[in-house]
Amino acid sequence: MSLNEDYFARANHVIPGGVNSPVRSFRSVGGTPYFVSRAEGPYVWDSEGTRYIDYVMSYGPGIVGHSHPQIIDAIQQASGNGATYGAPTLAEITIAEQICNRVKGVEMVRLVSSGTEATMTAIRLARGATGRDKIMKFSGHYHGHADSLLAAGGSGVANQGISGSAGVPKSAVADTIVAPWNEIPELDESIAALILEPLPANMGIVPPSPNFLLELRKACDSKGVLLIFDEVITGFRLSKGGASQWYGVQPDLWCFGKVIGGGLPMGAYAGSKEIMSNIAPLGDVYQAGTLSGNPIATAAGIAQLQILNNDAAYGALTESARSLSDGLSEIFKNAGIEAVVPRVGTLLSIFFTKSKPANFDEAQLAAENGIYAKFFHGMLKRGVALAPGPYEALFPSLAHTKDVIEQTLEIAEETISEITQK
Ligand SMILES: Cc1ncc(COP(=O)(O)O)c(C=O)c1O
Repeated sequence: MSLNEDYFARANHVIPGGVNSPVRSFRSVGGTPYFVSRAEGPYVWDSEGTRYIDYVMSYGPGIVGHSHPQIIDAIQQASGNGATYGAPTLAEITIAEQICNRVKGVEMVRLVSSGTEATMTAIRLARGATGRDKIMKFSGHYHGHADSLLAAGGSGVANQGISGSAGVPKSAVADTIVAPWNEIPELDESIAALILEPLPANMGIVPPSPNFLLELRKACDSKGVLLIFDEVITGFRLSKGGASQWYGVQPDLWCFGKVIGGGLPMGAYAGSKEIMSNIAPLGDVYQAGTLSGNPIATAAGIAQLQILNNDAAYGALTESARSLSDGLSEIFKNAGIEAVVPRVGTLLSIFFTKSKPANFDEAQLAAENGIYAKFFHGMLKRGVALAPGPYEALFPSLAHTKDVIEQTLEIAEETISEITQK
């Protein structure tokens, strides 16, 4: 038994499925998860000392590469001053100001500890601000694991073949309407909010069709429905100002996570002063958190945003994503394999199908044909770690240099030639 297998057996005794988040299990690709012992730059090393070029990057937070010295330094300094106080700090102001400065339309920010908390509270806030109960989401969009948002989710929900979740009472989703992505939904005055990933990245990358977000903005305005952009993945990744800057459409509320915590637990929701003033202690919508604005997470987040505070960083990230997506597309084409590699800016994903999916039904058809699992394992055994599920994006970081991308493409070529020979 290898060390990874040994750890997995032990983990299965004491942790459900051996993992603390279902997306980490190898259920949809088969096999044993590698247990990570350390990570640096574009690499992770497993318990057996095997090095992988990492495209999981913690599903998004690792945008500047693992163990970046500036972030480690910030964490070390902050942790020397105590881990958590239950009283406000200057660092919380700093990060809120930075978010306001970067994202046009954001005037106030509330820090929480995860993306799930951010979306869950944004929904509560929208309901509180409008006095309406219903919410609408799109199928294949993932907004964390709050009860009302689990319906027709992407990411792990799709991966594990779960349509929603046991344990969620019908009443909790009775006010959730699910609409197909890339079709303008019918809205009415009973709906508090429409929540979406402006660039869906949890059913693979399935971009909005041209002007779709603008049309949604207009549809929401005509019925007084609040538009919520869940930018937990796209925030500070797609551009300095995230997806709202990239697409030039402003929502009423933003949800952030991943990048803003620099690898530590952190999320945020944000919006105009008017809407955010509904939150306690200013208003009647309650939300709180013992570890909200945690000083170590905040320090890590500030350091990460600092490194990203220039257009060159986004240019480099885009270039890496572009060469990866172009290179993979060419390899698939030359091998006569039906595959597409949709990319928007810094984000990309792989579908083994003829044409790019435009909605969740098409993404599911493309994801469930079993080819991804073969590609995943071929890459892994040659030293490239992709996410162990066909619905996840690839997350190249600033540490994924030209050489690292070239190595990845060489390994992809070998993997594909092995698959086509069988
Ligand atoms: C778009 C989106 N929203 C919300 C979440 C939930 O964030 P967290 O896992 O930090 O609770 C995720 C997590 O992957 C996500 O991708």
